[in-house]
Amino acid sequence: MSPSDVDEGLADGYFPDVDTTDVVDLRTGAPDKGQLREVKDIFCRAAQEHSRLPRADRLFQYGPMRGPPRFTRELATFLNAGYASALSPVRPAGLLATAGATSGLWLVTSVLLSRRAVVFVESPTYFIATHILRSDLGHRLVPVPMEKDGVDVDVLDRKVAAEKEQMHLRGEDCEEGSSNGHKRFWAMFYTIPTFHNPTGVCVSPAKSSRIVDTARRHDLLVLCDDVYNLLCNDGGTPPERLLAYADGHDGESGLGNVVSNGSFSKLLGPGLRLGWLEACPALIDRLADGTGLLRSSGCMNNAAAGIITAALGLGLVRDHVRHLRDDVYADRFDAVYRVLRQFVLTGKIGVVVQSWVESWIGNRYFFPLLSFSVRKLILPLVAINIR
Ligand SMILES: Cc1ncc(COP(=O)(O)O)c(C=O)c1O
Repeated sequence: MSPSDVDEGLADGYFPDVDTTDVVDLRTGAPDKGQLREVKDIFCRAAQEHSRLPRADRLFQYGPMRGPPRFTRELATFLNAGYASALSPVRPAGLLATAGATSGLWLVTSVLLSRRAVVFVESPTYFIATHILRSDLGHRLVPVPMEKDGVDVDVLDRKVAAEKEQMHLRGEDCEEGSSNGHKRFWAMFYTIPTFHNPTGVCVSPAKSSRIVDTARRHDLLVLCDDVYNLLCNDGGTPPERLLAYADGHDGESGLGNVVSNGSFSKLLGPGLRLGWLEACPALIDRLADGTGLLRSSGCMNNAAAGIITAALGLGLVRDHVRHLRDDVYADRFDAVYRVLRQFVLTGKIGVVVQSWVESWIGNRYFFPLLSFSVRKLILPLVAINIR
């Protein structure tokens, strides 16, 4: 590796050089150069603050499996301020630190799902999630179409019932346990309920209740990819997270049916590799106490969790997210929206893109994440449909 490779610090060959060239590739959800500089400043201030703690060097030890207790406390305070949930507050006991939403998806799926479990996915959906679920973890995917207010719940309900029926006919046990006697779910619904990638749609309150109802009736696990929730522009208060509709009903197993998978990748930077899972405390206990993965690694990213704890305590993350939302993405959204509208009006971009632009109004993330020059814009024109 040459010194310049080390300086770049980019995952070469896979991620486009989003922060090194003038070309703006809007297919990649990653911060631009200016945002990275701001994150570096936040990180340095927070590291300095952390270093004043009496046992600051503990950060480099194996950490507590669910994350440092101060991390989950500060995170709960941050999320409660951001979500402003009328239905259900975030509790520290319901949180577990991860190395980003990708690792959260992997952890939940590998620990809580039966090896034969079928996974229902929105169509279209985040294309790398399907790669993880199908190619890496070997699950069969069943697509469910999206509508303007979220997944088609009638189709979801029908397909879940049909799969369950098939499973019974094959004589497979719905309640298949893992080797240490813990319950595994027979199926999962992977969803992006808030600011869906790639359509931008938010699931309506009525549909949220119906999804929870379907999950309870069929003992389905619902994994919500909640990485964009806090990047909303409507006065800063996002729609209720789907998990809030399930609060207080932990079901027979005590595990509940809904897990929220959050991340600092879009709020700060993906290089931090830090995120969280939120669920009812019994499910968090199950993940923290019963898995070889966490027993071996301890907290998935103890160092980042410790430093971001200090950043949360200083209010730096809150201020940065507000700045992204109200300044950076607001300006970029307006500019990109004007350009795209022009293209649509002059017939240069088709109706699919137009409808996406309209649904993206609820969230400024997808287009304007990167600084752009209009002459060099690469647009994400392809939605991935699962078959
Ligand atoms: C819907 C969705 N989930 C997860 C991720 C990846 O998140 P993380 O970097 O936290 O693993 C992305 C990144 O683009 C995404 O769009």
